[in-house]
Amino acid sequence: MTLRVGVIGTGTMGSAHVRTLHTEISDATVVAVSDADLDRANAVAGECAGTRVFPAAEDLIAAADVDAVVIAAPDEAHEPLVLACLDAGKPVLCEKPLAATVAGCLRIVEREVALGRRLVQVGYMRRFDPAYVELKRTLRDGRVGAPLMLHCAHRNAVAMPWFTPEMPILNSAVHEFDVIRWLLSADIAQVSVFTPRSSSLAAAGLSDPRLLVVETSSGVLADIEIFVNAQYGYDVRCELVGETSTAGLTPTPVFRDFRARFADAYRRQLQSWVTAAGTNGACGAGAWDGYAAGVAAETCLQAAEERRTVAVTMPKRPALYESPTEEQCVITPSVTPI
Ligand SMILES: NC(=O)c1ccc[n+]([C@@H]2O[C@H](COP(=O)([O-])OP(=O)(O)OC[C@H]3O[C@@H](n4cnc5c(N)ncnc54)[C@H](O)[C@@H]3O)[C@@H](O)[C@H]2O)c1
Repeated sequence: MTLRVGVIGTGTMGSAHVRTLHTEISDATVVAVSDADLDRANAVAGECAGTRVFPAAEDLIAAADVDAVVIAAPDEAHEPLVLACLDAGKPVLCEKPLAATVAGCLRIVEREVALGRRLVQVGYMRRFDPAYVELKRTLRDGRVGAPLMLHCAHRNAVAMPWFTPEMPILNSAVHEFDVIRWLLSADIAQVSVFTPRSSSLAAAGLSDPRLLVVETSSGVLADIEIFVNAQYGYDVRCELVGETSTAGLTPTPVFRDFRARFADAYRRQLQSWVTAAGTNGACGAGAWDGYAAGVAAETCLQAAEERRTVAVTMPKRPALYESPTEEQCVITPSVTPI
């Protein structure tokens, strides 16, 4: 069966998702797009025969011929759109972060729990990146022994012009929080933030770089460098230190931006989502994972402000989220890159 997908937000990420769905993903077709900028939506729809443009995102979600929805609108728009998808009973792949605030993430979790079905996937695509998948497999197979530490770095060439002082943590570091939880199958228990002198090339008001240190519930320490004006390129690193050895991500060239570095991950994420959505399955990062990354991020902002280590507090994980999704879907979907 072909999954009929509607895409909301046709900017940088959304237009790329439309093109990938249209040209590289099996068993899916983009039947509808919506964007606050109608010209942009029309231009993207024009690339795919038979794609309708909805001026209002809510009408796209409600449309009878839309089976599932991708949300790639700005962070602030995620919560109402995801809630509308849940109310319509439609699977939704929402770009990260799940919502702009922790309270918003929790409202989504609560609505999904009330529904009793997992329909939400968050676009933490590193879970589908071959290098990260291989690192997880290395750990799972016991090739480095029990984990002790992680060294992570997230560097962008230049920060987006709309980056506020909180964005390096709320919008970039959330990827690291999700990957740490997923790699180590453990929650983040406490966080500290260290702020050296800022790069003279960073915008006024932005503390850049920053070093975050997080401790998991299993006692593993992870240090995370977030540097969003690193100039030389987009560079994501992760080295795992275990009791008997270490392992890192398979080296890649340094790219100018994230789209080239993670193109394969975005494609694999979309294919897995389409497959899971078509079979009523859950896949990748769920709403609870989106919430957990958001809580870690907001706790980091508090830790930075108060210059101290702060414990991460979360309510008990609802039963709906007890089984990890990576066990429920194919960890390396067989997608042939073109
Ligand atoms: N997974 C990743 O690696 C990754 C990378 C970059 C961005 N993102 C996330 O993707 C989302 C989109 O980012 P982007 O870089 O594509 O932004 P963008 O500004 O390029 O595109 C956003 C689009 O949404 C439209 N829009 C604004 N409000 C809307 C609304 N209420 N309803 C429908 N459309 C609306 C805008 O007109 C614009 O075309 C963000 O949440 C961002 O955090 C994820």
